Amino acid sequence: MNFPNQIDSKRIILQRPYPPTRELATEIYAEVSDFVDHLGQWLPWASKTYGIEDELSYLKDWCEAHWENEEGFAYMIREKETKKFIGMIDLMKVNQKHKSAEIGFWLTEKATGKGYMVEAVKALENEAFKQGLNRIVIMNDTKNIPSANVAKNAGYHLDGVLREERWSETQNRFRDSNVWSKLKSDQTR
Ligand SMILES: CC(C)(COP(=O)(O)OP(=O)(O)OC[C@H]1O[C@@H](n2cnc3c(N)ncnc32)[C@H](O)[C@@H]1OP(=O)(O)O)[C@@H](O)C(=O)NCCC(=O)NCCS
Repeated sequence: MNFPNQIDSKRIILQRPYPPTRELATEIYAEVSDFVDHLGQWLPWASKTYGIEDELSYLKDWCEAHWENEEGFAYMIREKETKKFIGMIDLMKVNQKHKSAEIGFWLTEKATGKGYMVEAVKALENEAFKQGLNRIVIMNDTKNIPSANVAKNAGYHLDGVLREERWSETQNRFRDSNVWSKLKSDQTR
């Protein structure tokens, strides 16, 4: 697979966090630290103890390692006009046999409500289909309405709900998960 280091869209740029430097980790941390509690409702890594070292280790040990073995492709999202960092999106669980993958994402609080995530999902999925993948999945907690709306507004099909599919540490409950999908053939339908 040959994912580009940068994917351009109308209002945003997806940029590979490469090389995975402390400078990049600090830039991301600066935007996340104030609302880590908000993210923590939905994303297990965003805990009260999250810090720059965790971010750096994510960039090195997750993003770079997965990019190298072609199991995942993570991108920072920047506003095109200001170049400001506004969130992350990643293609994960890339399965080259079944030609499938899953997209995960988050935005900084200030960047929500502008349609940036639907735009980012479409840009990344478009590249994924170009790279030969056939099925992209988005999973979210059934209570996470903004995330479900991203999937719906990006044209994903709700395949179903996996009941009590995982344990949420932060919410101290089993979560039901929506499974949304888009197929390569859906693009032309
Ligand atoms: C999930 C998340 C990324 C959704 O963010 P979002 O800003 O609601 O989603 P989008 O960027 O697609 O923007 C859609 C909103 O922008 C509005 N919008 C404004 N201008 C727009 C434009 N030009 N084009 C499209 N939508 C626009 C839409 O009406 C919609 O608002 P609404 O939900 O109030 O109707 C964000 O809530 C988040 O980061 N949550 C925490 C982390 C998380 O839950 N991640 C997912 C885990 S599965």
